[in-house]
Amino acid sequence: MKIVLLGYMASGKSAIGKLLATRLNLQFIDLDFYIETCEGQSISKIFSSKGEIYFRKKESEYLQELLDLNNDCIISLGGGTPCYGNNMDLIKNSSKSFYLKASINTIFERLKNETSERPLVATIGIENLKEYIAKHLFERSAFYDKADETVSVNEKSIIQIVDEIQALF
Ligand code: S3P
Repeated sequence: MKIVLLGYMASGKSAIGKLLATRLNLQFIDLDFYIETCEGQSISKIFSSKGEIYFRKKESEYLQELLDLNNDCIISLGGGTPCYGNNMDLIKNSSKSFYLKASINTIFERLKNETSERPLVATIGIENLKEYIAKHLFERSAFYDKADETVSVNEKSIIQIVDEIQALF
């Protein structure tokens, strides 16, 4: 079985995926890292040189490629992956998916120091960031809520979250 971790930016998808993969002795694949490796460019560079539409097209193609792999693995997605095209249907059809649900405050506290690495929020001033997150998270929740399971990540350690995910198998 493939396990897919999804959720908003800074919800902990990669860190949680790595620990879960170690515990289950499965391969871990971070979709953003996979895209960067295949495209030979950072996500920020892809956005600035080729644009978001190109990124979303490649994101869907690479997602499909990973979901088609024959082996079981843990895949952590980008925050927007489930929200474009028929990506969420693909995810539902070929994996067990977990929504790592973070509150607006949790996301804001984590993201405020890391905006420069994320093209979607890189140009949003700190004074507007919380409002942006609230609106964007609301729009995306309709997709995230389709995941098979939802695990709240607020005020929990990575170990606690991974324990909770394992208890849901
Ligand atoms: C994005 C989230 C990023 C990355 C890209 C777009 C999004 O991944 O895929 O910058 O649309 O939310 P993280 O969720 O790992 O930051």
